[in-house]
Formats: sequence, C-alpha cells, structure tokens
Amino acid sequence: MSKKIFDPNIVAFTCNWCSYGGADLAGISRIQYPTSAKVIRLMCSGRVDPVMVLEAFKNGADGVIVSGCHIGDCHYSTGNYRTQVRFQALQTALESIGMDPQRLRLLWASASEGQQWAEAITEMTEQIKKLGPSPISGRGKK
Ligand code: FES
Repeated sequence: MSKKIFDPNIVAFTCNWCSYGGADLAGISRIQYPTSAKVIRLMCSGRVDPVMVLEAFKNGADGVIVSGCHIGDCHYSTGNYRTQVRFQALQTALESIGMDPQRLRLLWASASEGQQWAEAITEMTEQIKKLGPSPISGRGKK
C-alpha cells in the first residue's frame, strides 16, 4: 500500500508593487523553491479582505500568505498598516475555529527580495507539511 505524499496548497496574496515583484524576481533569477504557492496579485495588500482569506481556506488552501510592501513603503501610503491590523484579527479568528494560526503568514517583501521570497515560501511549505492538511479542506480525511 503506497502512502500519498502531502503536497501543501498555499495561496499567496501579493501586492502588485513590491511582493509580486519579489516573487517575479525569484522566478526570473531561477531560484529554486517549492511550487506550493499559488500567487494571486492585487494592487495592494490592504485590498486583501479577510473574507478572501477565509474563502481560500474554505476552498482547500492548507496555508495562506498575505504579502505586501514593507511598512512605510506601501504605494498607497497606509494599505499595509491596514493589512497588519487585519492579519492579527484573522489569526484570532482562525484560532477561534480551531485552526492553527501558523497556517496564515504575513510577509513583507520588496521587489528586490527574490531570495527572501523563495526562502519564505520554502519555510511556509515545510511548516504546513508539519501541520498536515487543513482541517477544513477535507483533504486530510480518509
Ligand atoms: S502597495 Fe504594496 S502593500 Fe500597499
């Protein structure tokens, strides 16, 4: 009997100006990292509504990353401050429904940080592998 290897499904919301650029730089620099993250590009991390994160989990994500410009660098001035506040509220909400808050990660990455992006995706993938499939994805059930 073969045991299926768990390949985490991670949704990564990125802002157009910084973190998407970092992800793109990792790709064009041919930095090797897991293919587990599915990138969704938005204009600003502040555009990531908490409902979008919960919908991602509901639809099968084992982990979610919300990524934007470093604090002080948001191209819309205060979008990532909003992201930071929402992130803390989302972690509390996840805990309240029995999900490990480590399944949600906040990542600040500039367009020049391709290496950091790749390392963060690698770390998140390993972390989610340890946690196993999301309890609400239905993939962990036999
Ligand atoms: S534009 Fe990048 S976080 Fe706002």
